[in-house]
Amino acid sequence: MKQTRVFDMKTALDRGQLSEAAELLKAGKTVAFPTETVYGLGAYALDETALSAIYEAKGRPSDNPLIVHIVEMAMLDDLIAEKKPYVDRLIEAFWPGPLTLVFKKKSNVPLKVTGGLDTVAIRMPAHPIAKALIETAGIPVAAPSANLSGKPSPTVGKYVVEDLMGRVDGIVDGGDVSYGLESTVLDVTGETPMILRPGKVTQKDIASVVGSCDVDPAIASNSASVAVAKSPGMKYRHYAPEAQVTVFTGDTVKVLAEIERRVIESVNAGHTVGVMAFEQDWAFLSKLLERSLGDSERERVHFYNEGSAKAPEVFAQHLFKHLREADEDGCDELYVRGVSEEGIGSAIMNRLSKASEGRVFKI
Ligand code: TXA
Ligand code: MG
Repeated sequence: MKQTRVFDMKTALDRGQLSEAAELLKAGKTVAFPTETVYGLGAYALDETALSAIYEAKGRPSDNPLIVHIVEMAMLDDLIAEKKPYVDRLIEAFWPGPLTLVFKKKSNVPLKVTGGLDTVAIRMPAHPIAKALIETAGIPVAAPSANLSGKPSPTVGKYVVEDLMGRVDGIVDGGDVSYGLESTVLDVTGETPMILRPGKVTQKDIASVVGSCDVDPAIASNSASVAVAKSPGMKYRHYAPEAQVTVFTGDTVKVLAEIERRVIESVNAGHTVGVMAFEQDWAFLSKLLERSLGDSERERVHFYNEGSAKAPEVFAQHLFKHLREADEDGCDELYVRGVSEEGIGSAIMNRLSKASEGRVFKI
């Protein structure tokens, strides 16, 4: 068991505590910290022992490469062997921010960071705590999401504490993150960039800056059954809560009728059940359920409010938190109303497809 220091910066960035956390990183220790996407579990990117501690803390297979976080362009130049001309425009448009770029690596980047690959994933985060921490440490910081392997990425400090207390050297609690889904991972080693993991920065956003952008065919279909994707992390069981997750997409009325049918079936089987949907859907669904279920039965139905259908970024922000809450509430099944794969919808459906291990039905 490690002695984990918790640095509470939920209300304000504290320079004194930040320096202590930065010292830990410099000394080869592991420190979890908030970014604008999800919490990361950081360690010095060029220190093999520190990197091993990340894999160990997460229980993560070591062929699953890590993202290196930087705060200035000089750090980038020290890590990469080649940069295609179009990449400068992407950096100009999206850094700092939720876009990770995959480059050919320099030889000083340990294979432990890259999972044995000759490429390295790099991101410049925008979160003030992440920025200040890396700046103060003055070193590139490798950081996967700060969850135990297989669990949803943490978007709230308390879940980092829950997963990693006693397993890491430090946790900076900076409250809730703003986007809630991990960064877009973009391979920029080729003439045309290719999305390996969808996120907040969309295919359209990227194409509007550099003309065109491909999507790795293995994720384009959003089916968990598709074989190994280029992004090695995509092949592992991910985000899977204890509850069995099933996602329905298509015509809203049909989707809600199917969710109603499934909820009743689960409740009648004596189960506790969750519904993840927009608030408009719930207004409709809860009326249906009032007709078919008694009060005590309805107590076993938990609703996870994904906000307005007009603002799917709220769905993205809450998704991982709600997957964890469904477990806390003891849900046996979780029925989710899917979204259209436009804009941020593509990242939402990608994560839902994983959380449901491919149980996504178009009806
Ligand atoms: O938003 C994020 O990206 C968060 C925060 C902490 O920055 N980090 C994160 O890291 O999500 P992680 O380790 O959970 O996911 C990294 C993803 C994995 O899917 C991994 O396979 C991919 O990036 N990746 C890393 N290096 C790669 C490489 N050289 N080639 C292809 N994919 C790579
Ligand atoms: Mg992760």
